[in-house]
Amino acid sequence: QAADHVRIVEVGPRDGLQNEKSSIPLDTKLELIRRLAQTGVTHLEAGSFVPAKWVPQMASTSNILEQILTNPPPAPHGIAYNYLVPNIRGMENLVKTLQTHKAQNANPSASVSGAPPTPPPSPGPSATTISSNPDELDANRSSSTSNSTEISLFAAATETFSQKNTNCSIATSLERCKPIVELAKQHSIRVRGYVSVALGCPYEGADVDPHKVASITATLLEMGCDEVSVADTTGMGTAPRTRKLLETLKDAGILNEDLALHFHDTYGMALVNTVVGLEHGVRIFDSSVGGLGGCPYSKGATGNVATEDLLHLLHSLGCDTGVDLLKMAEIGDWISHQLGRPNDSRAGKAVLAR
Ligand code: HMG
Ligand code: MG
Repeated sequence: QAADHVRIVEVGPRDGLQNEKSSIPLDTKLELIRRLAQTGVTHLEAGSFVPAKWVPQMASTSNILEQILTNPPPAPHGIAYNYLVPNIRGMENLVKTLQTHKAQNANPSASVSGAPPTPPPSPGPSATTISSNPDELDANRSSSTSNSTEISLFAAATETFSQKNTNCSIATSLERCKPIVELAKQHSIRVRGYVSVALGCPYEGADVDPHKVASITATLLEMGCDEVSVADTTGMGTAPRTRKLLETLKDAGILNEDLALHFHDTYGMALVNTVVGLEHGVRIFDSSVGGLGGCPYSKGATGNVATEDLLHLLHSLGCDTGVDLLKMAEIGDWISHQLGRPNDSRAGKAVLAR
């Protein structure tokens, strides 16, 4: 009997690093992405096109995108590299980076800076060939060996969190998502939506209305999001409330195939809630190597569930992820050391101690 396939979305380079106080060198971020690409993950959040004054750590994201396009990290298969965009300005900056890369690739001597032209990506299974031409992009997508660029936009389930995180109401944030989705579709870029604070809000408490989460999820899907990741930003979620939320989403007509779950592990409940999600039929889960992370606008919330812990759980249940736990554990240890913080993955530490 074929094992269930579960897709892991590795969010370490974005959610994992965005809250780190001391500036992380671009080379360290690129090295993290390069190492992760070799583990078997197929979906990787690489950065965020946010204003530096809101999230200083993500200021180098256009460089990261450019580097991934120019020198695609070697990988066993194509990877969807995802970037958070908070507004149309962020989306325009992302498209501009894609177009500049394409123009320089078409005419390598046309270097804006006057610096030597960057060599075109080497042909091969992991070459990124993103194009702003939708037809070419579709051709890329049809090949399982090509990388692609995706985006994530985000809304919140409570008014206070929406104001703190995006400086506007929920309704305004959803209105602002529409032109982003339109621009993404013009460029055949796949879109992920997030609904933050779905199981607890740092300002309004644990009692977030699941119907509100369902209606925002439905709005994002109707708008054209290809998938919505429902996020427990604060880690306040419990098994009964996770079950209730998933039942409410189902009653609202939202399909499991359109859903991902994004658990922060502040209270140590992320794996329990993952099992609830699996039993309900969800097959896409977000996680962060070494349990890195936190949201700058959710005080005290710690990292995402560690990818190593999630892999250990999923593999123990007979699920297939295609991701190598030992390689992931080594990266968790390496990046924790680079950041001068303890490794937050229990399975990661245990695997390395064997
Ligand atoms: P705002 O201040 O209202 O925006 O912020 P604005 O339009 O008034 O612009 C302010 C300044 O930023 C202007 O410059 C703009 O030009 C510039 P100034 O005139 O002051 O010199 N600007 C930009 N610069 C670069 N890139 C841009 C951009 N946009 C404007 N894209 C805004 C509104 C939405 C931009 C802000 O609130 C914001 O960036 N919020 C995002 C905060 C964030 O990144 N939070 C963490 C990510 S979400 C998360 O972690 C949750 C998740 O993991 C799921 C979960 O766990 O819940 C996804
Ligand atoms: Mg998060």
